[in-house]
Amino acid sequence: MPLPRVVAAAVLLFFASSSFEWASSAASDLPRFREAPAFRNGPGCASAPTIHIAMTLDAAYLRGSLAGVLSVLRHSSCPESIAFHFLATRPRRFRRAVAASFPSLTFDVYRFDPDLVRGRISSSVRRALDQPLNYARIYLADILPSSVRRVIYFDSDLVVVDDVARLWATDLAPDYVLAAPEYCHANFTSYFTDRFWSDPVFPSALAGRRRAPCYFNTGVMVMDLERWRAGGYTRKLESWMDVQKREARIYELGSLPPFLLVFAGEVMGVEHRWNQHGLGGDNVEGLCRDLHPGPVSLLHWSGKGKPWLRLDAGRQCPLDSLWAPYDLLRRDGRESLFVDL
Ligand SMILES: *[C@@H]1O[C@H](CO)[C@@H](O)[C@H](O)[C@H]1NC(C)=O
Repeated sequence: MPLPRVVAAAVLLFFASSSFEWASSAASDLPRFREAPAFRNGPGCASAPTIHIAMTLDAAYLRGSLAGVLSVLRHSSCPESIAFHFLATRPRRFRRAVAASFPSLTFDVYRFDPDLVRGRISSSVRRALDQPLNYARIYLADILPSSVRRVIYFDSDLVVVDDVARLWATDLAPDYVLAAPEYCHANFTSYFTDRFWSDPVFPSALAGRRRAPCYFNTGVMVMDLERWRAGGYTRKLESWMDVQKREARIYELGSLPPFLLVFAGEVMGVEHRWNQHGLGGDNVEGLCRDLHPGPVSLLHWSGKGKPWLRLDAGRQCPLDSLWAPYDLLRRDGRESLFVDL
């Protein structure tokens, strides 16, 4: 016997409304963001290479990631030639968020399995550094398709204020795996514990490098993924994390020290303008910082203080005003108070 029409309608309505609620509650656990303007290729882009950029997406840093994407597109002469590769532990949720702000963006969201690193993370000086996604950059060569042979990795607390094609053009010849700005005046010794330096074996890992091992920041890196894959660098980084977790406490920070242990002294230097880092202050207090001398192509709020948090709290640092124009957060009802001046 067929269902009475009214019952069928009620059943339909029930399913429609419950799935609607499910969808809307799944979407509403993320803040809402505005749609960015569309950016189009200028003249001379026909022969432009595809620029691959990798970033992570999570709820805490989504606002920063979207601002970073907007800043890249805004300053690129060939924005439609950029392909973004996002890593997230919940890809579907973030695919929707990115598409809502950038409907014509070329991008993919890949699942990063936090269990890849969970057993390898030891607690650091700042809890945010201990999030599994902070280690995702180690796995880019494994997760991105093999057709992606080079990628720029960007942290989610930075904005680019120059054409990213200049960074993409970094020469990694003859056989460098990684390029990044190096900071040789930083005290390299201090990134590792006394236990590390007094060990009969560990320090010898740094011997025989092409150049003196120097600190570099892992928030901005140009990576040759083919050489990375061929050289098994994921495994090399993991093995230092295993030492830290199981054998001896050899450092205090998160994902940075393993990178230093594997790559310091073997990094192709990039102009410092591509990582004006430390704008978030240190890892404990997040004080205001000034720019390093010299030109600026990228502003990086590494450290504890994030510009969106300081802006929201009304405790902004002077340089935070350079991040604000890239903020896509929707402020319902109050939007008109923040017209672009
Ligand atoms: C570098 O750091 C180490 C360990 O923190 C310290 O013992 C050493 O004095 C520092 N060197 C300089 C030149 O500041």
